[in-house]
Amino acid sequence: MDALHVPVLCAESVAFLDVGRGGLFVDATVGLGGHAEAVLAASPAVRLLGLDRDPDALERARARLAPFGARVELALGDFRELDARVGPDRRVAGVLADLGVSSLQLDRGERGFSFSRDGPLDMRMSRDGRTAADWIASSTEGELTEIFRKYGEEPEARRVARAVVAAGERGELDSTRALAEVVRRAKRAPRGEERIDPATRAFQALRIAVNDELAALEELLDQAVRLLEREGRLVVISYHSLEDRIVKNKLRDLARGQVDPVTGRTLSETRVLDVLTRKPVRPTPAEIEANPRSRSARLRAARRL
Ligand SMILES: C[S@@+](CC[C@H](N)C(=O)[O-])C[C@H]1O[C@@H](n2cnc3c(N)ncnc32)[C@H](O)[C@@H]1O
Repeated sequence: MDALHVPVLCAESVAFLDVGRGGLFVDATVGLGGHAEAVLAASPAVRLLGLDRDPDALERARARLAPFGARVELALGDFRELDARVGPDRRVAGVLADLGVSSLQLDRGERGFSFSRDGPLDMRMSRDGRTAADWIASSTEGELTEIFRKYGEEPEARRVARAVVAAGERGELDSTRALAEVVRRAKRAPRGEERIDPATRAFQALRIAVNDELAALEELLDQAVRLLEREGRLVVISYHSLEDRIVKNKLRDLARGQVDPVTGRTLSETRVLDVLTRKPVRPTPAEIEANPRSRSARLRAARRL
């Protein structure tokens, strides 16, 4: 099962979570259960609550984690509901979030995430709410420009948005492949050697918008930090600079604490976290070679004070 699915930075995640302490760990993005399996296998004193908003992923995770029996609890839902899922009476020993899309989502054309596998313009992780096609159909050129610029850091956002709106009006945007072609044609010839497909940024941008990923991440971090017991660990793996910046800034602010406005001194009792990764941890060349999707991963970790 899931032979192709290899969890990213797995040994590093388990080590930073410090699972030897035992207790309740939350995998906020349980996906296909790869990290969760490693966390559970690392210590019999670990219990795990796994969340995912993708029903297909959760079904796979359920089968994979079945051998751990009652030590595992899985729930379909958004990690924005972490507080409610954990409940008022529990504290957690660690929270792991391995952000972004799963290989299941990317590899199945019909989920609409991939520009290399044809499928409907969907991109909804939860299979619920507005699809990418709905977003495009209901957005103006200006709004799409903003999405491509903000969420894709696409340097040619305006040109791409104009072409996408025009193609939509001509009824030509009926698949991921059609969208990818429109974006590729809209972009000027790449300077030098372009390593990534020219449609990458536009697809990333739409996916982030459809799933409201950045706002969800902010909410997750706030809730996770509140739920951690003392010495509890937070481990986040992100896959692009927008996510990584949010994680980096949040950890830095909570580690710094508040400054007394009169004395200018840091109030040490308001420090909430100790950041364990001065720089983000990256996969080794060997991991990238074995699993090219790990290429852009960056792991940051913190300890609750
Ligand atoms: C990179 S995959 C995780 C893979 C997992 N660590 C494993 O080893 O199989 C990311 C998962 O996060 C889920 N996800 C993304 N945003 C979410 C959110 N706001 N709430 C719950 N799950 C989310 C996706 O559906 C996807 O399954």
